[in-house]
Amino acid sequence: MGLVSLLSSLAAILMMVVVSAGDEAALLAFKAQASGGAGGSRALASWNDSAHFCSWEGVTCSHRRTKQVVVALSLHRGELTGALSPVLGNLTFLRTLNLSYNSLHGEIPASLGRLRLLKNLDLSHNQLVGSIPPELGSIQSMQILQLSANKLSGMLPHALYNLSSLERFQVGGNKLNGSIPVDIGNKSSKSFEVECDAMRRIPHQCLIKIITCCSSINHQSQEFKALVFEFMPSGNLDGWLHPKSQKLTKSNTLNLAQRLDIAVDIVDAIEYLHNHCQPLIIHCDLKPSNILLAEDMRARVGDFGISRILQESTCKRMQNSYSSVGIRGTIGYVAPEYGEGYAVSTRGDIYSLGILLLEMFTGRSPTNDTFRDSLDLHKFAEDALPDRTLEIADPTIWLHSEPLDSTTSTRIQECLVSVFRLGISCSKQQPRERTLIRDAAVEMHAIRSAYLLLGG
Ligand SMILES: *[C@@H]1O[C@H](CO)[C@@H](O)[C@H](O)[C@H]1NC(C)=O
Ligand SMILES: *[C@@H]1O[C@H](CO)[C@@H](O)[C@H](O)[C@H]1NC(C)=O
Ligand SMILES: *[C@@H]1O[C@H](CO)[C@@H](O)[C@H](O)[C@H]1NC(C)=O
Ligand SMILES: *[C@@H]1O[C@H](CO)[C@@H](O)[C@H](O)[C@H]1NC(C)=O
Ligand SMILES: *[C@@H]1O[C@H](CO)[C@@H](O)[C@H](O)[C@H]1NC(C)=O
Ligand SMILES: *[C@@H]1O[C@H](CO)[C@@H](O)[C@H](O)[C@H]1NC(C)=O
Ligand SMILES: *[C@@H]1O[C@H](CO)[C@@H](O)[C@H](O)[C@H]1NC(C)=O
Repeated sequence: MGLVSLLSSLAAILMMVVVSAGDEAALLAFKAQASGGAGGSRALASWNDSAHFCSWEGVTCSHRRTKQVVVALSLHRGELTGALSPVLGNLTFLRTLNLSYNSLHGEIPASLGRLRLLKNLDLSHNQLVGSIPPELGSIQSMQILQLSANKLSGMLPHALYNLSSLERFQVGGNKLNGSIPVDIGNKSSKSFEVECDAMRRIPHQCLIKIITCCSSINHQSQEFKALVFEFMPSGNLDGWLHPKSQKLTKSNTLNLAQRLDIAVDIVDAIEYLHNHCQPLIIHCDLKPSNILLAEDMRARVGDFGISRILQESTCKRMQNSYSSVGIRGTIGYVAPEYGEGYAVSTRGDIYSLGILLLEMFTGRSPTNDTFRDSLDLHKFAEDALPDRTLEIADPTIWLHSEPLDSTTSTRIQECLVSVFRLGISCSKQQPRERTLIRDAAVEMHAIRSAYLLLGG
């Protein structure tokens, strides 16, 4: 017994020695290559036996259980002239590696991809060559990645798009080819990145398809960004609800069946974003001009420019808290609670959806000047139900129907009452009272089926 426990503590001590020697050995191997032979830099001269490695210049350690581990290595402007040793990948607990403004040559070692805790990697302003190792894309904790002003070449590895915590990303001033997202952390670029990301991860027939997104810098160092979408020959819903032309005809307005189809597509798309995307996506700017129409007049939801991609955990936290996001979205469609500083939520999208439905079937925009003081589109519809339903319906719907017999008129009225009820229940003032998107989708499908069935 005594022997066993003695042996095991001996083994533990040996392990400790081996592991902590690992960091020191790795630093020495790094020094040997980085100093570039010729005596190396002033900073690296201090890396000798006269002091513990944790007090070497540029090295920061932290306690991990009983041992000291290197958590940061920062030798910017340290006159390093050699190469980066692959042994850097052995510094398991490294969080910051900043070797910017040196003269490091050679390639970025792929072994850096083993640094699972790395948050900041700054190798900018060196002479590094070769391509960016895709292995860097596996460092999930990475927040800042700066590789600008080197001689890196090749394509940007796609794996870098996996870096979900990335806040700042700079690769300018290299010889990279292909399209390069410049400075992902830049606020103005952020919405672009979100949009690309949202569009890429959500293939759905009711969402606009992205063909490609690209961003690059021209020779004057100005940034260009482009999203290439599938072509939508029929324009957007706003143009159909509020035609510019003075003369309203069957060919520039929508019939009831078309409106029902479009409504079903929109509700399906939102339901998909909220309930079937992982992580869930909040559109934040639903309105007619963001609903695009294909040749067959089926709708696609587009413009994810300010959408939010929420991790489940963030989402729970945000739903019950205030945030500093400020008003997002468009006046008339934006949920009232956003104006009070509440964070974006799926219920905010449902509000916009409700307003959109009311607009689609009344033909009235929520910002029409007839809506002022306490009268808004929601109340306007609510007050008219059920007796004055046909009165508030968009008059252009009637351009498409033959003179109404009483059966048809009843059928249309029932359909409109149901749609208005749905629009009203989605656009309730209190977020908690709004219909759930799942129920709204079921209801919208049922309304369309009932209308088509009775008509057929
Ligand atoms: C670095 O790690 C590798 C693999 O774990 C090991 O073989 C090597 O000896 C280590 N090098 C140093 C200098 O610690
Ligand atoms: C070793 O490092 C110390 C500082 O830690 C420095 O004062 C000393 O000059 C160094 N020795 C050599 C031989 O470079
Ligand atoms: C690295 O060091 C430079 C020089 O001090 C500094 O400007 C830069 O912000 C640092 N990089 C990171 C990622 O902290
Ligand atoms: C990165 O994402 C792609 C899919 O986009 C996936 O196939 C790959 O395994 C991911 N890589 C890592 C390291 O997570
Ligand atoms: C990108 O760079 C690599 C290596 O530098 C080169 O082989 C390749 O032809 C380049 N591709 C394009 C499209 O320029
Ligand atoms: C962000 O990008 C814009 C152009 O896209 C540029 O004008 C601005 O200076 C950048 N901001 C920062 C902090 O880099
Ligand atoms: C407001 O609504 C009325 C009635 O539908 C319509 O005639 C008018 O053109 C609308 N005004 C605007 C600015 O859209």
